[in-house]
Amino acid sequence: MIHELSKTNSILNQFIAEIRNKDIQKDPLRFRKNMERMGEIMGYELSKKLDYAETSVQTPLGVARVNQLKNQPVIASILRAGLTMHNGLLNFFDHAENAFISAYREEKEGGQLKIHVEYLASPDLNGKTLIIADPMLATGQSMSLVYEAIQRNGTPAKIHTVSAIASKQAIDYVSKHLPAGTEIWVAVIDDELNANSYIVPGIGDAGDLAFGLKL
Ligand code: URA
Repeated sequence: MIHELSKTNSILNQFIAEIRNKDIQKDPLRFRKNMERMGEIMGYELSKKLDYAETSVQTPLGVARVNQLKNQPVIASILRAGLTMHNGLLNFFDHAENAFISAYREEKEGGQLKIHVEYLASPDLNGKTLIIADPMLATGQSMSLVYEAIQRNGTPAKIHTVSAIASKQAIDYVSKHLPAGTEIWVAVIDDELNANSYIVPGIGDAGDLAFGLKL
């Protein structure tokens, strides 16, 4: 199931405009903050799909009934760019467990990409809800390789992916390569990829915008 949140007008669209704008996106603090805010909004929207149980809370004046999350999710982020949305998700799911996984692109001649997945730090995933954050879902290959790698630590009961911008191609790829029932949350879907597999119009390199240029 695909949720493209910009289809409903909300303040999210301002954050999308700011991360896209070639002048505003040059302020790394604002860029990271906008990504974090998008992570918060997406976390809130996907929280409506989780399981809740009624609990009792003692207030100073009595007992209130509150439906609370039955189980805490695991938030997994793909390094480096995922860290920005990870913070936003964690602001709302502040009792969640966390996983980190690295994926970097080696650009081969002719525009071919080889994706290396190396570092993995993850709790047990068996039977849990796994939220995977990857801000730029360009080809979908990193998401699929990360899912393959992370399964070493167990099989989640349910998966949600969270991205700021996805290409149409990546949505198709992830829909085919992640388990049935995976929910894809994205702020906006763009039509194209360029020859280097960057999303167009997109934003450029999310990791560089958030954390600076790499060698
Ligand atoms: N990673 C990015 O940061 N941007 C893209 O457009 C694609 C992958």
